[in-house]
Amino acid sequence: NFIFYLKGLNPVAQSVMEKFHCQHVIIVPGDSDQDEAIKKQLGKEAARNLISFLKNRDIVAVTGGTTMAQIPRSMTPASGFEDVIVVPGRGGLGERVELQSNTIAAELAEKLGAQYRLLYVPDNLGADAMESVVNEPGIKEVIATIRQASILLHGIGGAEEMARRRGLSEEEVGEILKKGAVAEAFGFYFNKEGMIVHTTTSVGLSIKDLKNIRTVIAIAGGASKAPAIQAFLRYHHPTVLITDEGAARRLLEIE
Ligand code: BG6
Repeated sequence: NFIFYLKGLNPVAQSVMEKFHCQHVIIVPGDSDQDEAIKKQLGKEAARNLISFLKNRDIVAVTGGTTMAQIPRSMTPASGFEDVIVVPGRGGLGERVELQSNTIAAELAEKLGAQYRLLYVPDNLGADAMESVVNEPGIKEVIATIRQASILLHGIGGAEEMARRRGLSEEEVGEILKKGAVAEAFGFYFNKEGMIVHTTTSVGLSIKDLKNIRTVIAIAGGASKAPAIQAFLRYHHPTVLITDEGAARRLLEIE
């Protein structure tokens, strides 16, 4: 089948793997910019990979977004994962409820027959309020669980699109862009070189936790996202990159 063909020794996948030092690159045919159905395929591949990497007692952190939302939707119920815990990677980050990491964590846990812990912390709290919320015992425990994640599944977005989607003011969007941000992933904004230039005030995974996570699965497609994907891949080499042909081809063209 197509998907199999585009894995491993496929020249495009191979070149992306070499250019960005990912252990695995999976390329779904098509371009999700042109066809929403391709996002479903990305979700399906992500689910399949997650299951192949999942071990007993894993803690799986997920982010939000339209691509991530396809993962639980594309799955048939699984079993044998009763000891797995699914958690949101970071707080709500201003997404619509159906795209929030909490929602996706709960849906994914249900499909896996796993447990879940959710994080109820509003975004953009003032420093004092944030300090007292994160010290609430129940919330503290969830944050500690998140920070022990062994698998992370996350989307990657364009900086401007994500800043707007999260309801930042024109002024804030302008400031983030002025810092050179081109990509956003789980609340961090990256410039073209893959350096963090802005951090959202939200709780959960800290960027330092990333290196302790056994398996990181990044999911993002669409040729228009190539600059964002490139920026993130310069920051971190995920275990698996799941993308589509449109993004992969553009990734090999851009500097
Ligand atoms: C989310 C991440 O998973 O996906 C964001 O938290 C990322 O950081 C976003 O930018 C991308 O969203 P979408 O809708 O393009 O898949």
